[in-house]
Amino acid sequence: MKTDFNSLKELHEYYAVHNSCPLKKSATQPVYEITPPSSGIFFIGEAPGRNEDLQGRPFVGAAGKFLNELLGNIGLTREDVYVSNVVKYRPPENRDPSDEEKDSCRVWLNSELLFIKPKVIVTLGRHALGRFIPDVNISTSHGEIFYHKTGLPVFAMYHPAAALYNPGLRDDLKKDILKLQAFLESKPKQNVTKTNEIDKLLEL
Ligand code: URA
Repeated sequence: MKTDFNSLKELHEYYAVHNSCPLKKSATQPVYEITPPSSGIFFIGEAPGRNEDLQGRPFVGAAGKFLNELLGNIGLTREDVYVSNVVKYRPPENRDPSDEEKDSCRVWLNSELLFIKPKVIVTLGRHALGRFIPDVNISTSHGEIFYHKTGLPVFAMYHPAAALYNPGLRDDLKKDILKLQAFLESKPKQNVTKTNEIDKLLEL
């Protein structure tokens, strides 16, 4: 895996060429962010939707609006955090991404993690959670911290889009973001230091 990038922009431009995601053909463009987070928080969603596909930036539609509101509840803005997705291209009709699509974007996401070395990963929804912590159910694990074998803390949240269809989940998301704030205030160590080790443990 190539790791010697000078910027996120360079990283994304490299992987936009060097990936085999089948969704490339139908999507308008890859979707990514190019500014590292001042807070060390790395959110991961599922896959871009229509607005994201058109603008080339993650979480700019209705789900993104709710995510921004949640961040505001703990005194953060979008500029403070980094947001990415398991899959970088929009699946047609916003269907779930397939295993092949998720696997083909795996190295891209790992490379973002290696570049940013976040304090905490926040997974939005079951696809992102399953990528790091398999075999746990989002409905019983949201609001909890797990530790990936690299040492990276992984905080599980529902996907904000789920609350647009099921308003009952809005309160869960609002409570969970406060739990994330409490975790961050407990000053978690950035305990991931050896690049080649993360590389190995992320199973590239
Ligand atoms: N939903 C996602 O999972 N990702 C986006 O970027 C937008 C909506």
